Amino acid sequence: MGIQIAPSMLSADFANLEAEAARIPGADWLHMDVMDNHFVPNLTLGVPVIEALAKVAKQPIDAHLMIEDPDRWAPAFAEAGAQSITFHVEAARDPLQLARNIRRQGARASMAIKPDTALEPYEGLLPEIDMILIMTVEPGFGGQSFMDSCLPKVARARELINKHGGDIWLQVDGGVSLETIERCAEAGADMFVAGSAVFGADDPDAMIASLRSHAER
Ligand code: DX5
Ligand code: ZN
Repeated sequence: MGIQIAPSMLSADFANLEAEAARIPGADWLHMDVMDNHFVPNLTLGVPVIEALAKVAKQPIDAHLMIEDPDRWAPAFAEAGAQSITFHVEAARDPLQLARNIRRQGARASMAIKPDTALEPYEGLLPEIDMILIMTVEPGFGGQSFMDSCLPKVARARELINKHGGDIWLQVDGGVSLETIERCAEAGADMFVAGSAVFGADDPDAMIASLRSHAER
């Protein structure tokens, strides 16, 4: 698949999401951060917003569920039109069944790991998923500093993906910028979420192109 850039719409203008998506035709995905004030200490958006954006955006939607009980909610996000759905292993009651349910609905299933969570206990999920998200900040807010301490886990995830084979993408999310993206790519990431770096730029679409070329180096 090569390098993919998924701007986080959390840093976009929420009053104009359709126009914000149209400003970034170079984005491979629109990353939508769903927070419930339980799994993380912040509250953002839910199914209706994703449904509305999915109807008008050209890019597919990558829904990042930072919520309790993703087992219950993931199907509604698939029905709303999200083409990739990421749940946190720390929140899922039955991650295996959840991944299967997401795939059965025709969406890509993805598992996310917080900075303090080990990857190894979830190795058995690899045949059932399409992407691993290694968080490079504590989930909850945009604009935080990248945690270099998460890079060894990105490298470990790349090893596990190579060992298992199959077309599993490796996403990083949090503090990804022109300064940090090369380190992530070197560690093996191939899909990059960036919020403040993209929407804080004068030309967000040009920033996507720059991020991509840095990752491809
Ligand atoms: C954080 C979210 C991220 C966030 C990234 O919990 O999952 O997607 O929006 O924002 P930046 O790129 O600004 O760190
Ligand atoms: Zn995210």
